[in-house]
Amino acid sequence: MAKRPYIVGNWKMHGTRSMLSEARAIDRAAERLIKAEVALAPPATLLHATRKEADLIGVGAQDCHTAEGGAHTGDISAAMIKDAGAGFVILGHSERRADHGETNEDVKAKGQAALSVGLNIIVCVGETEQQRDAGTALSVVTEQLAASLPECADAGDRVTVAYEPVWAIGTGRTPTVEEIGAIHAAIRASLLEIYGEAAQEVRILYGGSVKPDNASELLSIPEVGGALVGGASLSADSFVGIVAAAM
Ligand code: G3P
Repeated sequence: MAKRPYIVGNWKMHGTRSMLSEARAIDRAAERLIKAEVALAPPATLLHATRKEADLIGVGAQDCHTAEGGAHTGDISAAMIKDAGAGFVILGHSERRADHGETNEDVKAKGQAALSVGLNIIVCVGETEQQRDAGTALSVVTEQLAASLPECADAGDRVTVAYEPVWAIGTGRTPTVEEIGAIHAAIRASLLEIYGEAAQEVRILYGGSVKPDNASELLSIPEVGGALVGGASLSADSFVGIVAAAM
């Protein structure tokens, strides 16, 4: 059975407790917008409070460390994220790859750590503008995937992939429908090689300047199983508009 579209808000480094009212409003809307699966990834400081405020939506973190614990000042382990009430973690976002030099190997190790404590994972891939202009978007994305995805026996239930072209993040620009369709089809083919038949159930999200007014078109592209939303997830009104477009 086809899964519901998965609409995930990534708050990035935005949000103090005053933002919990947005989480509450999103949660209330999710009660009626049941044809989509909705989740939020607030900053780590709000994970526990968001989980307490919002009963219906998924709550996840934006990164985790590879180790179970230890002398890693400022880092957060997958077990701590789970303990805060989260159910998933976003890994390999291009901002972490750029700001913290995260490699595909790091992302894979983080994925393994997250899966081993029972968290589901959303693994991000995407090409830069330079790579797109050079005509290498497809190979960049499929190579990132092959090297970043951890082994997982039940990938269909626990792994999500997010295709986020770096040049489309926060810019108001998006690839064409055809371009997104071609990359998502290639991602599906790679996933089938990596995970076998279970890959049919892995949702592939699109991320990068998703807004209420383009969501319906983007979400109707074949193989687009949802959206990873940055800026437009910071207000309940615009995020709920995107969720509604997925119905
Ligand atoms: O992870 C979501 C993201 O990077 C897209 O951000 O602001 O373009 O929706 P935005």
